[in-house]
Formats: sequence, C-alpha cells, structure tokens
Amino acid sequence: MSKSIAITSGKGGAGKTSLAINLALRLNEKRGKAIFLDADFGMANGHILLKSRPTLDIMDVLVDGVPVRDVLHLGPKGLRLLAGRTGATELLNLDDSKTEALIQAINTLEDECDYLVVDTSAGAESNTLACAAAADHFVVVLVGQATGFVDAYAMIKGGFKQHGITNFSVVVNMAESKEEAQSLFETFKKTVLRFMPVQVDYCGYLPYSRAFYNAAVSCHPVATQPACQVEQTALDNIADRILKSPLNRAMAQRYFQDAPQQNVINL
Ligand SMILES: Nc1ncnc2c1ncn2[C@@H]1O[C@H](COP(=O)(O)OP(=O)(O)O)[C@@H](O)[C@H]1O
Ligand SMILES: [Mg+2]
Repeated sequence: MSKSIAITSGKGGAGKTSLAINLALRLNEKRGKAIFLDADFGMANGHILLKSRPTLDIMDVLVDGVPVRDVLHLGPKGLRLLAGRTGATELLNLDDSKTEALIQAINTLEDECDYLVVDTSAGAESNTLACAAAADHFVVVLVGQATGFVDAYAMIKGGFKQHGITNFSVVVNMAESKEEAQSLFETFKKTVLRFMPVQVDYCGYLPYSRAFYNAAVSCHPVATQPACQVEQTALDNIADRILKSPLNRAMAQRYFQDAPQQNVINL
C-alpha cells in the first residue's frame, strides 16, 4: 500500500515546500518510488525549486479533465511531480468537490508510487485541510517564532475539529540546535494537549542552514547536492520518524485507501 505524507504549517515561509521536495527526493532515492504533489495549487512553486518545466499541471486535471497520470512529470533524480500552477487565481480557493475529485484521481496512481508527498499552501482553508487530512501522515512544520507557533496550532485545531484527526507529526524547522528544536516541540506539545485530546509526535528537525536559501536561488535542492550531508542526514531521520509515527485514521476521503470510519468532531 502506498504511503502518503502531507506537509503543512499554517504559516507561509515556514519551510513546507523545502521540506516536501527534499523529503520526496530522499524517499525516491533511498526507499522507493515517490511522487511530489504540489497542492499549493494557485501559487505553486515546487516545480520551480525542482528546476522542472512541466507541460501539464493540476489545473489541466481539474478544469480540462486530463487524466492525472498524463500530468506526471519526470523531475530531478527520477522524482515524478504533479505540478500546480503559479498565479492561477481559479485554483486559490478550490471548492470541496474539486478537491475531492483530485484526491479521487490520485487513487489511480497507486501502482505508480510507494510514497506521495503533498506540499500544501499557507493558511487553514478548507481545501488545504482536506488535502492534508487525506494523507496517512499529517505533518506540521513548526518554527520558533510567535506566529509560527500560533499558525501550527491553528493547523492542528483545523485538522482535529474539521476532520477528526487525532494523530499529528511535528517537524521543527530552522532550529539552531537539537536542544532548541526539542524544547520548542515540548512547549508546543504542552500547549496543544491543554486544549485538544490529540497525539503529537516529534519527528525531528532541520537545522537553520544557508544551504536551503542557496538551493532556493540555484533551484538545486539540498537533497541532490553531495555537499549537503548534514541536511540529508536530517531529512532521512525525519522521513524515518514520520513513517514510523502513528497513522491518521480519521477522515472519510483518503489517498490510496478506502474510507476509514468517519470521525468528525462537531464543536
Ligand atoms: N532549514 C532552513 N534553513 C534556512 N532557510 C530555510 C530552511 N528551510 C527553508 N528555508 C528558506 O525559507 C524560505 C521559505 O521556505 P519555503 O519552503 O518556501 O516555505 P513555505 O513553503 O512554508 O512557504 C525559503 O527561502 C527557503 O529557502
Ligand atoms: Mg510553499
């Protein structure tokens, strides 16, 4: 059964896209076939950071009914991507039926991949939450700024209240040290558990590193650069911990799975 991982944060600039593309690249290289889905639909930038020029994208699936298989684009190191479109205002507030149709369409790719990594947009809009809630692992990127903390909390609240998710994986980004990352996570976890009966699992951290900034300028992700061993080891550790963390068992509509029992919490 293919595994799906969605990367969220609530906040823009927390490092969702950086984490998602690099995780997808590392999984593809080390563990099995991966597909990167750019679910930041209208402001997509994953393909730019992967230096890829797909001829078709998600908009072609949703608007023109192109089969999702035909939109798969071969990126660096054999990673396949389902690109979004940049500046497509029609896709910014995708309605629920279109989001459902897309998740359904992705089910047809089960034989094409072992791992699906989904990059999501900032904010906790309904389509962003649906794309994340459909994954086996709902990952929240936490950064050590007041806004990052609040937005990561809002993401968990949205996943819990709107989709009944009770298992969340947390990755700390841009940490100065292992201790700082761990301490930020513990404070976050305490806050979350005070207000919601959920489980939050720590899945490691990415150090603050100039290499990520340089990668965004050169469009050569750290996962593909031999000089970025520290970052790659951190990414492999994160991938391992995410995949070992408890599965999201809530939500009706899922990537690659029959619907588990619906568990929506009406608060
Ligand atoms: N661990 C990191 N260290 C330093 N810079 C980072 C790190 N992770 C991401 N960045 C940089 O932060 C900026 C925002 O990252 P991005 O992945 O686009 O965030 P998001 O997708 O959440 O908006 C980019 O310039 C990226 O290179
Ligand atoms: Mg992004």
